[in-house]
Amino acid sequence: MFIRTYGCQMNVYDSRRMADALATVGYVGTDNAAEADCIILNTCHIREKAAEKVYSELGRVRALQATRREAGKDILVAVAGCVAQAEGEEMVRRAPVVDLVIGPQAYHHLPKLMAQAEAARATPRGRAGIVATDFPAESKFDYLPDEVTPAGVSAFLTVQEGCDKFCTFCVVPYTRGAEYSRPAAEVLAEARRLVAAGAKEITLLGQNVNAYHGDAPGNGEWGFGRLVREMAAIDGLHRIRYTTSHPRDMDDDLIRAHGEVPALMPFLHLPVQSGSDPILRAMNRKHTADDYRRIVEKLRIARPDIAMASDFIVGFPGESGAHFADTMRLVRDIDYAQAYSFKYSARPGTPAATSDDQVPEDVKIERLSELQALLAEQQTKFNRKFVGQRVPVLFDRPGRLAGQLAGRSPWQQAVHATAPADWQGKIIEIAVANAGPRGLSADESAAA
Ligand code: 5AD
Ligand code: SF4
Repeated sequence: MFIRTYGCQMNVYDSRRMADALATVGYVGTDNAAEADCIILNTCHIREKAAEKVYSELGRVRALQATRREAGKDILVAVAGCVAQAEGEEMVRRAPVVDLVIGPQAYHHLPKLMAQAEAARATPRGRAGIVATDFPAESKFDYLPDEVTPAGVSAFLTVQEGCDKFCTFCVVPYTRGAEYSRPAAEVLAEARRLVAAGAKEITLLGQNVNAYHGDAPGNGEWGFGRLVREMAAIDGLHRIRYTTSHPRDMDDDLIRAHGEVPALMPFLHLPVQSGSDPILRAMNRKHTADDYRRIVEKLRIARPDIAMASDFIVGFPGESGAHFADTMRLVRDIDYAQAYSFKYSARPGTPAATSDDQVPEDVKIERLSELQALLAEQQTKFNRKFVGQRVPVLFDRPGRLAGQLAGRSPWQQAVHATAPADWQGKIIEIAVANAGPRGLSADESAAA
């Protein structure tokens, strides 16, 4: 089985759970698509041309399948993730290579559906063409197997999924469905298993992770702040992160947790999308730019070294030059350590897509490059502050150059260092010698 993952960290987590589910019926993972008996594309639908990219990837899969058939073997092909959810039947019609189209809420049915797809091979039609994109009443988490594959020193854990906020640009409420929080006991048990398997850092995931309101182990519910505090009590768990959060769900308990829970890392990805109130209103974000400024102010009081990150959309329908200037002003006020920024892309089925106030492409390109120049400058400035300081790094992978390892600082910066191989998997303090837009380095000579 070969799984290719596109898009966000939730897809990375989902791919692992799909692999775990298929492992229970004998599938073994491979990194080589050419030798796989089953290929799963775990897709992302958030921005432009997502579906087209999947169709062209499926063209390559078909070529691979032809080669394999010449050798007397076969490949089962499944498309999962948000493009699968959005395309459904259309995908089976357009791409005859696809055996199974499976939406994110149906992954617990994967072993059964794969068996059906395989059985169909023996029939004259040869292909099952299964579409599993209904939102089931039950939670997939109740049916997926407990963790079987170790997830490494830095692991993802989905605690919340879906979204009820319906920002007018976003497909998520349609592809991932309604907001759902996993029960706290289930989340904690999974966290303990990850730590027992070697995780030192866990990133809690959700489309609206801080909207978490899962069943408490006894009665009632826990909010996200409480969940974070309980996670921090797990022995051997040194670092906790979470993503992605919404400003409206940044409650006082969670803000306080940033000051009180040492394992909660001083980095927060809190997307604001725009700094203009009329645009925020048209986006249905339900907060103002000043609300956001106040939240960041409170976070910085609770945890003075917290590094802020965000997502931005430029060229949302109706965005004027003055609206965009408000975004630039907000960026200057907050001073970001990191950010993603995108040109608005009309997603079919979302309210903003049909607005007749679309911004011309050349204006979007210009605004995006202006914004990105400012963000890059802030990010470089942020990183340079660390030169000469010592920072603890969780080394989790080989570095770019031979003899190097790479890891992350508490502030989520990528850090490279010439290091003995046995530092991998450990948290080690290094002296920062060099810094650049992309991160930090302990080595004098190497560019960061
Ligand atoms: N166009 C551009 N960017 C988008 N995002 C979500 N939907 C769109 C869209 N239609 C961005 C948002 C979100 C991030 C994951 O992707 O900034 O926070
Ligand atoms: Fe999309 Fe808005 Fe929900 Fe985030 S909060 S997933 S941007 S609808």
